[in-house]
Amino acid sequence: MPGGTGNVGEGIVRAFLHAGATVVVPSRSQERLDHLAELIDPQLGNRLIRLQAGYGTFAEATELAEKIVADHGRMDHAVPSIGGWWMGKALWQVSENDWQQHFVETTTSHFAVARAFVPRLDAAGSYTLIAGFAAREPYPQAGIISMHGAAMLMMREALSVDLGGRRRVNNLLLGPIINRSRPNGDPSWLTADQVGEAAVAVALAPSVQDESITLGTVEELRNELARMRA
Ligand SMILES: NC(=O)c1ccc[n+]([C@@H]2O[C@H](COP(=O)([O-])OP(=O)(O)OC[C@H]3O[C@@H](n4cnc5c(N)ncnc54)[C@H](OP(=O)(O)O)[C@@H]3O)[C@@H](O)[C@H]2O)c1
Repeated sequence: MPGGTGNVGEGIVRAFLHAGATVVVPSRSQERLDHLAELIDPQLGNRLIRLQAGYGTFAEATELAEKIVADHGRMDHAVPSIGGWWMGKALWQVSENDWQQHFVETTTSHFAVARAFVPRLDAAGSYTLIAGFAAREPYPQAGIISMHGAAMLMMREALSVDLGGRRRVNNLLLGPIINRSRPNGDPSWLTADQVGEAAVAVALAPSVQDESITLGTVEELRNELARMRA
């Protein structure tokens, strides 16, 4: 679960643990892994496998995927929730460092994970990429986040075309999420735990394939859960 230490990732990790899965969370930071463990119910914690490991290069992501398969025998589902929010500059004000950090590094990490994980997933497994509405709708002074998100949505579609049904690859397209860093918000917004509920439902629904699932409100979540669980 690359991105499992993040605000949204935490809810996805918790939901898969509740569903009975063993969840491997890699992170560049042991501190963030330890913080995640503190946020998870200790009764679930024995199936949370924390790995201090990067996946920002092709070699690192491949090494990580190989280790997961070697240690656990197989890899069923992956839900990459990589990279966060950034804003504050119009496109022409973006520095080379901003570009590197918020477009190049996050895009490379997502792609490195996809190329390493997808071919190693169990035949009945699934890959569910997490994206935000900014991928479809440009937000003022957050253009490079929108550009990254749009690239990720197209990567998911391209994966679906290349796979031709051999693996289930989907994405969740999320509105603003209530999470540990933003504990309050509009009551119609999903929480990180509800994102997790949706991600588990996608993983468990063989009929959900090559889809972009829009989850902007709790009502949309309810409708999608009913459809996926039918
Ligand atoms: N938060 C929201 O309201 C919201 C709304 C809609 C969509 N989303 C989507 O949800 C996903 C995660 O967002 P978030 O709010 O959970 O972000 P976050 O709290 O900043 O977490 C980012 C996660 O990405 C990982 N990561 C790996 N490589 C990274 C890199 N080069 N730069 C930054 N992070 C990197 C981090 O792992 P390390 O432990 O190694 O740092 C961390 O686990 C994103 O795709 C975002 O678009 C979020």
